[in-house]
Amino acid sequence: MRVFVAGASGAIGTRLVPQLVDRGHEVIGASRSPARAEHLRALGAEPVALDLLDRAAVRRAVLEAEPDAIVHQATALADLTFSRNFDGVFAKTNRLRTEGTDALLAAASEARVDRFVAQSFASYRNAREGGPVKTEDDPLDPAPPAKTRKSQDAMRHLEDVVTHAGGITLRYGIFYGAANDGLIEPVRKRQYPIVGDGAGVASFIHLDDAAAATVLALEHDGPGIFNVVDDEPAPVREWLPVLADALGAKPPRHFPRWLARLFAGEAAVVTGTEARGASNAKAKRELGWQLRHPSWREGFRTAYAPTAQGQGRNPDRDAEASQPPSRLVT
Ligand SMILES: NC(=O)c1ccc[n+]([C@@H]2O[C@H](COP(=O)([O-])OP(=O)(O)OC[C@H]3O[C@@H](n4cnc5c(N)ncnc54)[C@H](OP(=O)(O)O)[C@@H]3O)[C@@H](O)[C@H]2O)c1
Repeated sequence: MRVFVAGASGAIGTRLVPQLVDRGHEVIGASRSPARAEHLRALGAEPVALDLLDRAAVRRAVLEAEPDAIVHQATALADLTFSRNFDGVFAKTNRLRTEGTDALLAAASEARVDRFVAQSFASYRNAREGGPVKTEDDPLDPAPPAKTRKSQDAMRHLEDVVTHAGGITLRYGIFYGAANDGLIEPVRKRQYPIVGDGAGVASFIHLDDAAAATVLALEHDGPGIFNVVDDEPAPVREWLPVLADALGAKPPRHFPRWLARLFAGEAAVVTGTEARGASNAKAKRELGWQLRHPSWREGFRTAYAPTAQGQGRNPDRDAEASQPPSRLVT
């Protein structure tokens, strides 16, 4: 297939492009920055400069590329800094998930592209009731923290329009396995505390496994929504000390809920104490997906140990050394 990848130069895009090429697909790799063209070419893609928020340019690029499939991996999450105003920090990403998705779908329809896969997110979205791990059929949080509602709405919009058009959305876990992973710096600096009892559950995914699931989703008929997460959804009180240790950092601090609410806002309290994780059973069953890193327990150590110990270089983390650092995870 000829696969048009929007956001080809990002954390997931740079893992996805080589896997698509290895699988025998031709890849057109789109990102805004012409400076990233050579990097994309080295990964095996035909580079295209494109701003996804320029609808006319999206139409032109897709019609010219004549792809068989489109993958939307564009976000604007590099260089994030911590803010209580979650929606403000995610404003550009929300536009990429709404306007950008709409533009790509319109172009796909005009170019008669019938395979479409888009990036969504699994953690921190499920209704905060019942058991700790949720499937794609379980309800989303009907009352998310106020400062996250626009971001939650943008993800719902993306999922609705993509599946309505017959495509697939992938609810990825929290990415790790690259030099610019958003949790590295705050955990090293002990800026990411365990809030209250630390019972909020998160789901993680190694970038290589996320890319592998994406290739399989492209080869699968839609519509559908799949959680692309590892085998071990876990509460903050379990995963955070392991991550700190893997990074060679001091153990995380503990904050009572009121203090976390004061400094970090309601969203931080909810994610730290009430969030539910996601099940990957459907992706394994229907996509035939197998994970190389089934759990963050082993995955964090593989990804970060050489750096934490100052020994040599880790190819997983060097792969994106050209990417700007980010300070906040989605
Ligand atoms: N599930 C998750 O946990 C999750 C999901 C996404 C990102 N993240 C994290 O966020 C951090 C930053 O992510 P990232 O390195 O992928 O960078 P990013 O800034 O989020 O960019 C992602 C991709 O989108 C492209 N892009 C951005 N704005 C665009 C626009 N207006 N039009 C077209 N393309 C656009 C970028 O290329 P150009 O900038 O060249 O246009 C890049 O290819 C990383 O730590 C990553 O792991 C986490």
